[in-house]
Amino acid sequence: MFESLQEATSDAILGLIAEYKVDSRSNKIDLGVGVYRTPEGLTPVLDSVKLAEQHLVDTQTSKTYIGTAGAADFNAAMQELVFGDSAPKDRLATIQTPGGSGSLRVAAGLLLRANANATVWASDPTWANHIPLLGGAGLKLKSYPYYDSQEHVIRIDDMLQSLRSIPKGDVVLLHACCHNPSGADPSEQQWRDISDVIVERELVPFVDMAYQGFATDLDEDAFVIRHMAERVPEMIVSSSCSKNFGLYRDRVGGLSLLAKDPASIAVVISQVNNFVRTLYSVPPDHGAAVVSTILNDNDLRAQWLTELAGMRNRLNDMGVLLSETLLDKAPEHDFSHLARANGMFCFLGVSTEQVARLKQEFAIYMVGSGRINVAGITTENVTYLAESIAAVL
Ligand code: LMR
Repeated sequence: MFESLQEATSDAILGLIAEYKVDSRSNKIDLGVGVYRTPEGLTPVLDSVKLAEQHLVDTQTSKTYIGTAGAADFNAAMQELVFGDSAPKDRLATIQTPGGSGSLRVAAGLLLRANANATVWASDPTWANHIPLLGGAGLKLKSYPYYDSQEHVIRIDDMLQSLRSIPKGDVVLLHACCHNPSGADPSEQQWRDISDVIVERELVPFVDMAYQGFATDLDEDAFVIRHMAERVPEMIVSSSCSKNFGLYRDRVGGLSLLAKDPASIAVVISQVNNFVRTLYSVPPDHGAAVVSTILNDNDLRAQWLTELAGMRNRLNDMGVLLSETLLDKAPEHDFSHLARANGMFCFLGVSTEQVARLKQEFAIYMVGSGRINVAGITTENVTYLAESIAAVL
């Protein structure tokens, strides 16, 4: 049986973790996978998470199965986090999923059940795993223009024009904030324009929000979701707690579905529950219980918001720091976009050959596209980093 298999290529992002780990050079820098790091290079468990976990250890009485949709208290808290107070609750439902990726996979299954011919349109570029994950599930995928890699801005006119030509009923995949990989997000006005086209063309928005709270704050980062929820009959939202709660390996996410009326959402949710049972049966619960504990306790929530702001500010500071250091080390090149990017990622603006040289000659690791995770930058390594980048330009 297995002799017919060929070795698969390693994942463009996760493969870097293993390569970095075995590199013995002491000055190595990891700008690869999207995890937050402290100035000491650590990805610690948040204090608010530790306290919530302790509370769960002390009070949890059972580890019996939860249902396919997960825990009602988590789902309500997640829905409020994503949609705010004005959520159209009578036609909206949220389920607990194994991370954002699990949410995307369930959404893909639902879309295939609803309309196997629908095409999902993704930004060019998009998260490296969007296409394999959604395409691997069986969905048809196409792309719309998004990022101008010369000017480091969104190609808003091209994007709007492309959206206008998408057939009615197709699905448009959007990044709510901290666009991965570019860090370039539409302004509120641009989101309004995008929403108008989606309404006009009767398209279905599918919003992936993996970084809520990493750009500006919880509310502003969810602007497009809340704006569209008031205007579109149907919407899909995948949200993740991997980054904003630092719960990467605990796999915590949500899938929210908006349907045209209460009767329709009941049907949608019955299909989702049925599909989940065939996929992973029930979601993991520990991380979701942690999130629910934090969001439902005023003190823990306040502590988490402070920790989230700390992560956001550090990411912002590191983008600015690298941009300024490069101004000194490579003054003839413009790296000002690094200071403007939202969240963890931006494109450095280097070729695949330059990415390879940075790894081989300088032990600096980033995704082949030149995407960097600014969380890997520190005040200690930024000079070496900027000098190394300058050396390959
Ligand atoms: C990333 O883009 O680096 C993160 O979202 C981690 C992942 O799973 O790819």
